Amino acid sequence: MALLITTAPAKAAEPADVAPDGTPEQIHLTWGDDRSKTVFVSWASPARSLNPRVILRSSAYSVGAADRDAVIPAVERTYTDGINGQTVFTYHAKLDALEADSEIEYAVTADNDRNAAQPFSARFRTAPHGRAAFRWTSYGDLSTPVTSWVLSTLQSRFAVDAVERFQPLFHLLNGDLCYANLNFAAQPSVWADFGNNVQKSAVHRPWMPCPGNHEIEFGNGPLGYASYLTRYSLPGNGTPFPGLWYRFQVGSVLFISLCADDVIYQDSGAFVVGPEPVVPAPSTGNAPIEPGTSIYNRGFSGGAQTRWLEETLAAAACDAGIDWIVVQMHQDAMSSSTYGNGSDRGIREAWLPLFDRYGVDLVLCGHDHDYERSWPVRGCNHHVGRDAITGAVVDTCQPQPVITTDPPDGTFDTRRGTIHLVLGGGGSGSPLDAYGVDPVTGRPQAKVITKSNRPTPGTAPGTFMKPAADALEEAIWSARRDTQTGYGIAVFDVDPGTAGGKTSITIRYYHALGANRKPTGEYDLFETLTLSKDRE
Ligand SMILES: [Fe+2]
Ligand SMILES: [Fe+2]
Repeated sequence: MALLITTAPAKAAEPADVAPDGTPEQIHLTWGDDRSKTVFVSWASPARSLNPRVILRSSAYSVGAADRDAVIPAVERTYTDGINGQTVFTYHAKLDALEADSEIEYAVTADNDRNAAQPFSARFRTAPHGRAAFRWTSYGDLSTPVTSWVLSTLQSRFAVDAVERFQPLFHLLNGDLCYANLNFAAQPSVWADFGNNVQKSAVHRPWMPCPGNHEIEFGNGPLGYASYLTRYSLPGNGTPFPGLWYRFQVGSVLFISLCADDVIYQDSGAFVVGPEPVVPAPSTGNAPIEPGTSIYNRGFSGGAQTRWLEETLAAAACDAGIDWIVVQMHQDAMSSSTYGNGSDRGIREAWLPLFDRYGVDLVLCGHDHDYERSWPVRGCNHHVGRDAITGAVVDTCQPQPVITTDPPDGTFDTRRGTIHLVLGGGGSGSPLDAYGVDPVTGRPQAKVITKSNRPTPGTAPGTFMKPAADALEEAIWSARRDTQTGYGIAVFDVDPGTAGGKTSITIRYYHALGANRKPTGEYDLFETLTLSKDRE
């Protein structure tokens, strides 16, 4: 029988004199276009909020010598989940004209906030203006602490605590936020559990996300990103695809966040395995989603994203205020995970040549739930891979390392090559800490996806499966792999240096030993590396 989705249960009828519940929840911050002046406060509420607003406390709001609280109204954005029919109410207040490098106290409320007498309040710090020292953190693949959801684990709670332990200026959440798309009947509830977990940290510092394959949902927009895009306010990109990619700068570091679904070969979005169709709630008016259906977004922007990336990188190359370029995306150009997805040639073809041409220093990814660091890479070797089944020669565009031993002083020069980090160990329920090894040579080996893996009939009648990576290559680019645990967090400290001198980024990766067996809040140092170069 088909998987029938009932309409999300209506709340018990409320007395006529009680307004629907507009209490803010899932509260989080993101940078606006000018991160030293503009911050978005976003949240959701169980029902429509009346007069939703942020109150900036006068003690912390120094612009304009305000002697009373400033009230910033929020705009409402909603969507109705295309599978269970639940309408999600979100609110976004743009805090503008803030002072750089200042502590801001704020409250979030509405006329029908159950906590209106004492609304939720918190503090955050705006970004510094100009060259400055700062810290950011990153991981992807977080999930929720509600373990009844697919791929959710209690480690995701400790992972949020870990961000607070390191007190970064902001956190990069590199995709696969909560895996709502694996829980067809309850996508909005999964998002709510994710948002309320992340709130512990994201009310104190921006969490800047990029979309991963699990942000692609049935029923929610033509590309499946409607839930993600409704919930986040992000810097603009001037294209018909706002929110899916963006840039922002802090100090002398340019951060570029990309949507790799646009260029990868792998089909890893929403998928009905079968044998039963997924039948949306009658209120949605949506037709059953038949077994074998998947959302495959490769090429969705028609090249707009890659053109934007090249323009952004070209502008950065002529900008004397930019010393470092850091890219965040979800999927991996280089990953040698055994049981994970592997490397995707689509990224190697579309974007690695641009990273080479314009000197991107660092690429932060997730997707495979582990830690892997590449050597600095430039250019690629052709026709050195082989078909995973037939052994025939395949062009995997194997990235070429510029060094293959750690520098004696642990300091890397990324002007010679780009370092990629897989940081997929946020908290999802399939930690992967096994990596490929060539059975003959004993050297690191990677799976590579070089063509689309659209669903094909599975072994059980009426079911479908997605083929695994089609090619293999020697992972000559792989520098370090954490075989002890899949879970961890990367911490980045920027030293802007002084005029005429050097600038550096120190990277420390901390991992949660034993978390594969039992969730833990203990994160221990796994490795440290430093990137150093002359200031622009
Ligand atoms: Fe993931
Ligand atoms: Fe993923």
